Amino acid sequence: MQQTIRPARCLSGSLVLPGDKSISHRYAMLASLAEGVSKISNYSTGADCHSTLGCVQALGIGVEEAGTTVTVHGQGLHGWREPAGVLDAGNSGSTIRMMAGLLAAQPFTSRIAGDESLSRRPMDRVMKPLAQMGARIEARDNRFPPLTIHGGPLHSIDYTLPVPSAQVKTCVLFAGLFADGETIVREPIRSRDHTEIALREFGADLKVIQRVITMQGRPTLTGRELIVPSDLSSAAFFLVAALLVPGSKLVIQNVGLNPTRSALLDFLLSIGASVSIERIESSGGEPIGDIVVKHAPVRGGVIEGELTAALIDEIPVLAVLGAASETGFVIRDAQELRIKETDRIATVADNFARMGIAVEVTPDGMRVPGKQKFRAAAFDSFGDHRIAMAFAVAALAADGESTIDNADAASVSFPEFWNILERATS
Ligand code: S3P
Repeated sequence: MQQTIRPARCLSGSLVLPGDKSISHRYAMLASLAEGVSKISNYSTGADCHSTLGCVQALGIGVEEAGTTVTVHGQGLHGWREPAGVLDAGNSGSTIRMMAGLLAAQPFTSRIAGDESLSRRPMDRVMKPLAQMGARIEARDNRFPPLTIHGGPLHSIDYTLPVPSAQVKTCVLFAGLFADGETIVREPIRSRDHTEIALREFGADLKVIQRVITMQGRPTLTGRELIVPSDLSSAAFFLVAALLVPGSKLVIQNVGLNPTRSALLDFLLSIGASVSIERIESSGGEPIGDIVVKHAPVRGGVIEGELTAALIDEIPVLAVLGAASETGFVIRDAQELRIKETDRIATVADNFARMGIAVEVTPDGMRVPGKQKFRAAAFDSFGDHRIAMAFAVAALAADGESTIDNADAASVSFPEFWNILERATS
């Protein structure tokens, strides 16, 4: 699908965005291992989270969907059954990496695969700790999907994450649910902590002291009623759009504001953005609130170290904001971007070149000079949802009509994006 985007005069209104992708995956997987029924409201509408539901169903768990409410009939920690065919993770790194931890502990062999993009993403980061726990996993070139997972008994480990990755942390903790004793995960750089919060909500015994997580194996998990907050990473596209286009004001409702994700808002405030939070509440241990954003010129900034890890998914759209900022953005320590759905350093640079934006690419990031003029262009998502949406936002501030090829990629996390964007712009 090709999408045409005209320059926006302004963005306005009150938006309701779909449920958080990260939290939806975790709730669905844990609900499938809990005893009894779980009802998950505002479940992500993205294709990735439906890949997770498909896997859970293929493992013999009853799942019903009514709108964005998902009911999961959990059968307890040992309720999964051998799937009839290959499990399909689609485009979803979270699905394959997190499921790998759970499949490694099952009393059967399973195979899990994904699309072309996922088939190029490294799985050795989960295979190594799982091997230490006693798992036997085969992969293409010892590294890439599909994975053949020979499930069996696991033992607990004390593991220090070599990369800042919540997916790897989750994989080890999920495998640890089936191991005896204490599983310990140490994080040199803090990653999103939705797993820790969700595990507690479902009844696991888990302690977090500084960056060390200690979890007791073999808990009884219990079905729950949960509401997924709206996705801050999806809100990021609208936050940047409103900051870029003069006269804009948006209210984005019920957004997840977990401190391991909300570094985005702190960063925007630090460069002079007009962003405020109203009506904070808590849901399932996760803070949520309404974000109000108004157009404002922003200064330049540096994104590096822990900050890079905390807003890794938002960097494509932040790079766009950087090109409009006063003095530009410097992005460092972002080598993880090279192994996302696309090499996002390369795909951002490619689209920048199409619109005449200067950028200096480095091995672990980029320098984007500020005060640049946005020219209309023919963009390509390269099949990456966040690249499609980041350049739709750039197109709003361009000097004419732009197109985005492969725009349907947005539906991996945010199928409603194009409709909501159209309604918010005038
Ligand atoms: C995610 C963690 C991040 C993020 C991804 C979702 C999660 O990946 O980029 O979109 O839900 O845990 P890594 O854990 O690989 O950094």
